[in-house]
Amino acid sequence: MRELVLPNDTNSHGNVLGGKVLHLMDLACAMVAMRHCRRPVVTAAMDNVEFLAPIPGGHSMILKAMVNYTGRSSMEIGVRVEGEDPRTGDITHTSSAYLSFVALDDLKNPVEVPELIPFSEEEKRRFQEAAKRAELRKEHRRD
Ligand SMILES: CC(C)(COP(=O)(O)OP(=O)(O)OC[C@H]1O[C@@H](n2cnc3c(N)ncnc32)[C@H](O)[C@@H]1OP(=O)(O)O)[C@@H](O)C(=O)NCCC(=O)NCCS
Repeated sequence: MRELVLPNDTNSHGNVLGGKVLHLMDLACAMVAMRHCRRPVVTAAMDNVEFLAPIPGGHSMILKAMVNYTGRSSMEIGVRVEGEDPRTGDITHTSSAYLSFVALDDLKNPVEVPELIPFSEEEKRRFQEAAKRAELRKEHRRD
């Protein structure tokens, strides 16, 4: 997903607002989750949000999101945000996060999602790491 950083989306330093980045992360990841399960989804959690570098007004935001892991009804989507300077084409990694979504049935109860089957070594690594995070989230909720 791409978005141009407009004046309304910037802070007093002229860079994109953190809240705008979170909003776009939520949208990009929700679309990925819905495309995986073909169901309505809700955002259950956003973790490990990191803002590494600012994106100035007039630059482009590029959001790259993918399904890392599926549980029974939940999915972890990883998102990486980059800023692109339109004059030079230089791209900077500016933030990343993990978002959890839950698929809902027609009565708005959690419903099973298709299992993600990782193929490449990279996908398998992402899946295993995300499975550990999902377990940690469950433990955290039990505390
Ligand atoms: C997310 C939600 C549907 C979970 O409902 P619930 O009754 O707690 O459901 P369950 O306990 O059966 O859990 C269902 C799944 O959600 C996951 N889940 C629940 N709370 C979670 C959280 N805070 N973070 C990550 N995953 C969560 C569970 O691990 C479980 O995953 P699994 O099926 O893959 O094992 C419910 O808490 C909710 O509606 N929250 C509000 C969502 C919302 O309004 N979001 C913002 C706008 S979209």
